[in-house]
Amino acid sequence: MRRLLTLLLAAATLMLHTTTTEAATLNIIPEPAYVDLAAEGTYLVTGKTHIIVNDELWNEAELFATEMMPHFNLKKPMKCVKRGKGIKVRTDSCIHEEGYEMTVSEEGILIIGGSAKGVFYGLQTLRQLIVVGNGVVPCCFIADEPTFAYRGVHLDVARHFFSVEDVKRYIDILAAHKVNRLHWHLTDDQGWRIEIKRYPELTTKGSMRSETLIGHGLRPEFWDGKPYGGYYTQDDIRDVVEYAAQRHIVIIPEIEMPGHAQAALHALPWLGCHEQIVDVWTTWGVTPEVMCAGKETTYEFLENVLAEVIELFPSELIHIGGDECPKERWKECEHCQAMMKAQGLENEEELQGYLVARIEKYLNAHGRKMIGWDEILDGGVTPTATVMSWRGIEGGIYAAKRGNNVVMTPMSLCYFNFYQTESRKGEGLHIGGHIPFEKVYAWDPYAGLDDDARKYIIGVQCNMWSEYIKDIETLEVMLLPRLAAMSEVQWSVDRRNDTTIREKMNTLRGFYDAMGWHYAPYYFDGRK
Ligand code: ACM
Ligand code: ZN
Repeated sequence: MRRLLTLLLAAATLMLHTTTTEAATLNIIPEPAYVDLAAEGTYLVTGKTHIIVNDELWNEAELFATEMMPHFNLKKPMKCVKRGKGIKVRTDSCIHEEGYEMTVSEEGILIIGGSAKGVFYGLQTLRQLIVVGNGVVPCCFIADEPTFAYRGVHLDVARHFFSVEDVKRYIDILAAHKVNRLHWHLTDDQGWRIEIKRYPELTTKGSMRSETLIGHGLRPEFWDGKPYGGYYTQDDIRDVVEYAAQRHIVIIPEIEMPGHAQAALHALPWLGCHEQIVDVWTTWGVTPEVMCAGKETTYEFLENVLAEVIELFPSELIHIGGDECPKERWKECEHCQAMMKAQGLENEEELQGYLVARIEKYLNAHGRKMIGWDEILDGGVTPTATVMSWRGIEGGIYAAKRGNNVVMTPMSLCYFNFYQTESRKGEGLHIGGHIPFEKVYAWDPYAGLDDDARKYIIGVQCNMWSEYIKDIETLEVMLLPRLAAMSEVQWSVDRRNDTTIREKMNTLRGFYDAMGWHYAPYYFDGRK
């Protein structure tokens, strides 16, 4: 990190003396911290180029070697060897852990990462350069590191299920944008999608709904009449977690509680206050059917589920939801009222605060940390919870000022299930709203925060709720190209540039085409 600072200072001094020269640029997204294109010449990478690597970085080198196969039309990955000429990778702990330095000369390419993560990101940068330059890489020096430690993307698999193969494809796209957290929303009213061995009913019963709402509004003809479901076995989960880890993405699982849990209540009716049978919900929105916060059996259930979740996911942060929990059932429930009395709680908000704090204690006792949507602030948040600010930025500002870690993900900027154009022409049916590329790109995630509070903003995230996203192609179109704008906020917030972004995006479009990823055309063709 110190090395990069020195470079940036030297570059600033140089610029003071060379105001007349037009700076050439490399069109890389997200924007690197420092690029020097002064050297002349190029280095040609072909399918026969070797990657020179030691054992410690074999995973990163092999992934790159495999990712390049379609580009070079190869039957086998590019060759990784221990000695020779070509693309050499190594680490140096003087560099930021996720940072890298890349030197391209006519003799070869050297990537030095602060760790295996930095090497991985350096190779992602190189992949963009190779693909868009058809193997011809300009001689240059790049020094790079991210702004935010937490660079997240969310995926809701409860409203619509995405196969292991789809999730891996999604992860590939995130990794290419240097995202390092996948927030996997695994349970909700409309489906429970993770196998829990202790409670098989959660998936045998809770993963299926009778039909799906395919229109806006609640007219009978808007339901499709087709049973819908799906879930991940624990082996599937392990497979995806490992796949993500190889790409330096930590998966944060979300188990929703105490609201957004109607599918669990369908499977295990004793989780609710009134214990009557409810269906796996077939409407989008917020249901009054929530877990009972008064019965000890609910806490036992949650701890047993989390025990299995912790075994499956190495992530330090575990997401417990906490959002949109109506309190009608609790007001009428003798168990909830008795718990409030016993704990000296004034109202049902405080009862939710009690549940959240108890779950946090469980997670902490098992070496993990809790993250939740910003409603966890409403019942009195503990100082150690991480808050995901979605209802706006106010919750995040409040939490950061108290010293809680915060992930900023306000709905008006970060809900990528919203439309991308104002006219909505040709977009198909989506939930509502309007978030074009430009709005994401212009976002200042530090707005409203003083220097003291800023340091608690650990990162930013975009969210992909899947009520109207039924397949991987639509998912990709909702994600791209807006993820490119988000990745510049996440990786290079102070390096954004309104005058170069369009040209950079046109270059990135060529990369998306080469990858075979689906993306929305609106930013490129100027549709509003
Ligand atoms: C949310 O959108 N309910 C977090
Ligand atoms: Zn109750």
